[in-house]
Amino acid sequence: MKKEKDYGMIQVTRKLSGNNYRQKNLEVCKLMQMQWVKESLEGITTDVLVIGIYEEANVLDTDVQRLDVKLSGQIAEMMTEGIFKGKEGQTETIFSQGQVTAKRVVLLGLGKEEKLNGEVIRKAAAQALKAAEKTKAVTMAMPVLMKEGLNAREVGTYLAEGLTMGSYRFLAYKKKKDDNDQEPTVQKVLLYGQDEQVGEQIDKGLEEGACLAQGVLTARNLVNEPPNVMDPEAMVCKAEEIAREAGMSFEVLGREEMKDLNMGCFLGVAAGSAKPPKLVVMKYEGNPDAKDEIIGLVGKGLTFDSGGISLKPGAGMDEMKGDMAGAAAVLGAMEALGKLKPVANVLAVVGLCENMPSGTAYRPGDILTSMNGKTVEILNTDAEGRLVLADCLCYAQQLGASRLVNVATLTGACVIALGNHASGLVSNDEQWQQSVVDAGKKAGEACWPLPAYDEYAEQLKSDVADLQNIGGKEAGAITAGLFLKAFVDDRPWVHMDIAGTSYTKKPKAYQVKGGTGVAVRTLAYLVNDWKHEGV
Ligand code: BES
Ligand code: MN
Ligand code: ZN
Repeated sequence: MKKEKDYGMIQVTRKLSGNNYRQKNLEVCKLMQMQWVKESLEGITTDVLVIGIYEEANVLDTDVQRLDVKLSGQIAEMMTEGIFKGKEGQTETIFSQGQVTAKRVVLLGLGKEEKLNGEVIRKAAAQALKAAEKTKAVTMAMPVLMKEGLNAREVGTYLAEGLTMGSYRFLAYKKKKDDNDQEPTVQKVLLYGQDEQVGEQIDKGLEEGACLAQGVLTARNLVNEPPNVMDPEAMVCKAEEIAREAGMSFEVLGREEMKDLNMGCFLGVAAGSAKPPKLVVMKYEGNPDAKDEIIGLVGKGLTFDSGGISLKPGAGMDEMKGDMAGAAAVLGAMEALGKLKPVANVLAVVGLCENMPSGTAYRPGDILTSMNGKTVEILNTDAEGRLVLADCLCYAQQLGASRLVNVATLTGACVIALGNHASGLVSNDEQWQQSVVDAGKKAGEACWPLPAYDEYAEQLKSDVADLQNIGGKEAGAITAGLFLKAFVDDRPWVHMDIAGTSYTKKPKAYQVKGGTGVAVRTLAYLVNDWKHEGV
C-alpha cells in the first residue's frame, strides 16, 4: 500500500477493470484516498459532509445542532417530520446552498447505538459513499463511527473496507453506460474526529482495511471477467503480478509437470479443454523462526465449468465463469497478506483449468488416479472441483503445508443448504475450524460448520475404485467435503464451500451484482490473527 508522504493519506487503487491480463498495465486505475483529520463539523470544506445519526436519537449532538442552525433547522425538521429516522442504511441529502462550507450534507442512519459493530460500520461507510456519488461528489467527509468498547484501529479497518468495497463497479465492457453505470466519482474521503490518539490508530486501521479490500476487488475482477478472457493463462498472469509486487516466490506448473507428479485427477478434468491447465504455487515467508508451521491455502480455479460430458443445463450456465472464485479468493488474500506482512508462513496452491465436453474429455466410468495413489471412479464429470482440489491438496502437503484451508465453489447442494448468506465448512479439526469461523465473523462473512460424520463417507464408496466422485443427492455439500478429506493426511484442514456466497444477483451495501470477493478477508484475517503454539 503506497502512502503519500506529504499528506499521510491512505491510497487505494481502484482497479475497475482489466480486459487484457496478458498485457501488463492495462487495468484502469482510479485512486481513492482516505485520511483521518482533526476537524469540527463546521470547519470541513468538502463536497459532501456526512453526519451519522443513531435511530431513536432524541437530541442531536451539539456540533450537529450548531450546523443545523446554519442549515435553517432542516435536520431537526426532517427528524420531527419522520422523514429521517436514523434507521440503519437510510440516507437523506440536504442541499446546503452556501450556508455551510460543505456543498451537500448527507444524513446517514446508523441504526440503534447498541447494535453498532464492524459490519454496521462497513455498510454505513459504503452507503454514505453511495449517497455522495449520487451527487457526483469528488470529496467526502464522514465521522469516525466510534463507540465505547470498539477498538479504534479496527474501526479504521472497517471504514476502509466499506468505502473501498463500496466503490467497486465492473464496467469494463460497457461502452455505452446508462444511469446505473456511473463510474465512482469520490477521490478523497476524510474521516473526521477530535481525539488525536484515536486518529493515529484510525489511520493505521484505514491502511490495513485498504489492503484487505483491495484484495477483495482483485478477486471480484477475476470472477467478473468473462471466461473467454479470464482463462487459466490469464489467471497465471494476475497471480504472477501479485507475487512479484509482494516479493513472494512464484511457480507455475503445466501439463507435463503435473504428469510427472501423477496428478491424474486434475489432468482428467482438464483433458476436454483446448486451454492447458495451470497450477500456481506462491509462498509468503513471514515467520522464519517457525519454518515448519505453514498455512496452506488451496483454491479451486475452474475458469469455466460446463459440466463436461455430464453437461449442465443451459440456463444459468454463464454463472460458471465464477467457478474460479476459490482461486480468486486465495489470490486476493495473498495480495492482501503481501501488504499486511503478518508473522506467518503461507503457501498458496491454485488449480486452474476448464471443464469442457469434447472428444478428449474424461467420461463417466473413467477411473482416475490421484497424486497420492488413490483411485477415483468418475460417475459424473460435473463433480470436477473435488478432483482438481484432491491433487492440489496433495501437492500443498508435499510442499510442506502443516495446516490447510481450501476454498471452492464446490456444490449446488451447499447453496440449497445455506442459501447465499453463509459459506459451508467441512473440517477434520474443530479448533482450526473455529478459527475460520472467528475470522469469518470479523470479516462479516458468515461461515457455518456442516456435520462431517464419518458415516456420510459411506456414500463415496465405489465398487471398482477407492472412491467414487459423487455421493448421491443427499447431503451433497458434506460428501463433497469428505471426498476432499480423503486427500488430507494427519493435519488440521478446513474446506470452505463458497458456491452460494461468491456470486450475488442482488446488490447489497458494499456489494454489486457479480463476484463478491468472499473469503478474501476471512483468509487474510485468519492468517493475520493466527498464533500457533510457541509464538
Ligand atoms: N461448480 C459447481 C458447483 C456450483 C453450483 C457452484 C452452483 C456455484 C453455483 C460444481 O462443479 C458442480 O457442478 N457440482 C455438482 C456436483 C454434483 C454433480 C455431485 C452440483 O452441485 O450439482
Ligand atoms: Mn461442476
Ligand atoms: Zn465446478
